[in-house]
Amino acid sequence: MYVLGIETSCDETGVALYHSRHGLVSHVLHSQVRIHAEYGGVVPELASRDHICRLIPLIRRVLAEAGIERHELNGIAYTAGPGLMGALLVGASVARSMAYALGIPAIGIHHMEGHLLAPLLEASRPDFPFVALLVSGGHTQLVQVGGIGDYRLLGESLDDAAGEAFDKTAKLLGLGYPGGPEVARLAEQGQPGRHVFPRPMTDRPGLDFSFSGLKTHTLHVYQASAKTLQDKADIARAFQDAVVETLVIKSGRALAATGLNRLVVAGGVSANRLMRQQLDDMARRTGCQVYFPRLAFCGDNGAMIAYAGYRRLAEGQADSLEIRARPRWPLTETPPLPLPETG
Ligand code: KG4
Ligand code: ZN
Repeated sequence: MYVLGIETSCDETGVALYHSRHGLVSHVLHSQVRIHAEYGGVVPELASRDHICRLIPLIRRVLAEAGIERHELNGIAYTAGPGLMGALLVGASVARSMAYALGIPAIGIHHMEGHLLAPLLEASRPDFPFVALLVSGGHTQLVQVGGIGDYRLLGESLDDAAGEAFDKTAKLLGLGYPGGPEVARLAEQGQPGRHVFPRPMTDRPGLDFSFSGLKTHTLHVYQASAKTLQDKADIARAFQDAVVETLVIKSGRALAATGLNRLVVAGGVSANRLMRQQLDDMARRTGCQVYFPRLAFCGDNGAMIAYAGYRRLAEGQADSLEIRARPRWPLTETPPLPLPETG
């Protein structure tokens, strides 16, 4: 069974092909970073237009690389939400229309479900159940995952997402977009311990996060002390240490609260080196297993959508002929697998 996966929720056009026996066959990604960089963030209209230009050539490329023809496809999966409405509609329209023309099923996938299943593309893959720490530009969530579509929200950010906090801090420090990797790079040169930033909401029980106060704290320290590049690096270091330690503490608490010993970490921020290291250390200390996607699949990509689509289509799930995108879509509203008995 060949499933084509299409991701267009934000500023990356990702296309991939997954096969039921051979696994991931091919994948391509076009990043729009260059288009948005001069504006310091994603411009939705420019994102939609670029997806329109890129998507069909990328689909052709993925099929050519795999050496298969369109009519050999058995299903098409696309990101149906959450994300930018115009950007989502490009993927949804192309996927739904192409599936109709080919007479095959199409399925809309939740973007964060794609992220949380991305580690299942690896050779060393987690079994269900597990706790997922989802850390992207738009979401910071701890989720108890019993299976595909069996998601219980344990905690989430009450304000900024972790990636968003990195992006805003980057702007403050005069770094480029996207800010996460830039802050992480500068932090490597920072002197540890020169500043100690708060670890928000770790002094009370609960699994929610809040990063906006940390951003304000960073601003105050920046205004008071940032004169040289080294000062900025020290601030980046303190900021990164605070975000990472907060995420590690809360992940440990989520594992303890659920009694589970497997942690999956996914989303753009899961590419952060310090975070991967510290979560590995925490896992070693507590006898847990931690699973990450490979670096190429931490951020947005088509492979995770092709895989999630394959798992759902293989169980007989498919969408109606309607072209549907949901810019806001709670993860807990995705349908469970296997389908409940009807009638
Ligand atoms: O999952 P993703 O590609 O897109 C969304 O679904 O939002 O996540 C993008 C986010 C951005 O905020 C970016 O700054 C952050 O992930 N990010 C990082 C790193 N690489 C990407 N944050 C911290 N450290 C990194 N190495
Ligand atoms: Zn994402």
